[in-house]
Amino acid sequence: MRGRDALFPGFDELVAAENALTAKLDIVRRNFSSRKANAEEPSTEWLSELGRKRFDEAEDLEPLMDWVMDALDTGGVQMTHPGYLGLFNPAPTFASECADRIASAFNHQICVYSHAPAAVEIEQHVINEMARRAGLPAGSGGHFTSGGAEANSAAVLCALQAKCPEYSDEGVGVFNGQPTVYVSKESHLAWLKMAHSAGIGRSAVRLIATDGKGQMSVAALEASIAADLEAGCVPVLVVATAGTTNAGMVDPLNPSADLAERYGMWFHVDAAWGGALIASNDRRSALEGIERAHSITIDAHKWFATTMGAGMFLTSRPDIPAQVFRVTASYMPESDASRDFYLNSTQWSRRFVGLRLFLALGAAGWGGYGDHVERSIDLTDRLTNRLKEGGWIHANSSAMGVSCMVPPEGHDAVQRYVDAIHEDGRYWISKAVYEGKPVLRACVTNGRTDENVIDGLADLLLDLS
Ligand SMILES: Cc1ncc(COP(=O)(O)O)c(C=O)c1O
Repeated sequence: MRGRDALFPGFDELVAAENALTAKLDIVRRNFSSRKANAEEPSTEWLSELGRKRFDEAEDLEPLMDWVMDALDTGGVQMTHPGYLGLFNPAPTFASECADRIASAFNHQICVYSHAPAAVEIEQHVINEMARRAGLPAGSGGHFTSGGAEANSAAVLCALQAKCPEYSDEGVGVFNGQPTVYVSKESHLAWLKMAHSAGIGRSAVRLIATDGKGQMSVAALEASIAADLEAGCVPVLVVATAGTTNAGMVDPLNPSADLAERYGMWFHVDAAWGGALIASNDRRSALEGIERAHSITIDAHKWFATTMGAGMFLTSRPDIPAQVFRVTASYMPESDASRDFYLNSTQWSRRFVGLRLFLALGAAGWGGYGDHVERSIDLTDRLTNRLKEGGWIHANSSAMGVSCMVPPEGHDAVQRYVDAIHEDGRYWISKAVYEGKPVLRACVTNGRTDENVIDGLADLLLDLS
């Protein structure tokens, strides 16, 4: 297929091409664990071939797809590899892949209720069930986002709006002093970009010290808020991270909520990774206090393991995003403003991403997801314990199955180990900085990782030491 026919093939051709694609993907998938976990640089030959593709001549679609898949098969860190113990990027659930195919076939535009009532109802249902499971009060809501950064960004805007209703029309100038935002120095630092785009500036973000265990110090948080009030600033937002990116630590949720309440601030919990613990009856107590949040970020594309590009913003105050994101546009169809995502979130045109979690949750149930998160914690603990027996030091104590380890030779040796593992290629782990010092970081993100993979990695690390 090439030319215009390749864009809109007839039904029979489409089915044949789709089957051929599925067969090719099957071959790629069968090789999951035999390929390297680490990325290879694209070859110079491949790059110059890419450079020559100026789209003046139409090519056949099928060989073009082969060419792309060959490159992707090696040219990227492989999240689907069971040896990838990496940065919160999952091997996707099969149900979420099915959802992507279904959503693509229908290609519904779900920004407006009246255009896609079934899809909007499904997506909203997932959000409501997530909010319920997180313990938010009845009447809570929210929306899907492209990821955690978009959800956190909604929290900044909502905090400013809740503090000063005129903010949406007048901007930051209406505040009596500099609006300030409090996050721990171990938080995901996209908060700085969000402060910039919300118009309060990066210097409005207070990076609160941690307590030596990777968790926000409540004393330092309170002192910072008090100092800012004294200086005439307007504290608007306290963010507690539930599952820090480096070490999977949970900031003190109830004390942070207490301070937010005392000073009339919005309380947000960034549980982009760790939020999946709500699925586990045994482990969810690590999130105690999350139910007091005005808003919560949970990424479906992290521990809930959907395909990429699916986060969630949950809120006990759906009236606030409705103020932040309101707009009137005569070309939009008649609909129901309270259920129109374009009036309650950043995005306008919107893909039906919630289907990924609907199908996966439906097929696994909360119990299945509970098993999934508990299994990844157990496997990470297995790695930690094997290394401890070999003289390594366990630096963090995470409820989320993120292991930060220090080799027997000390922090300075971390990079040597990471380089050796990447060179070997069967596993992917990273270096992180925990409480100011380098550590080797491992986190089970792939539901196909098993004891053999963990033991193989442990053996390799112990052989290297
Ligand atoms: C704690 C935390 N918050 C937010 C984010 C940003 O999420 P996303 O990459 O989905 O935008 C991350 C990413 O790793 C994270 O670890």
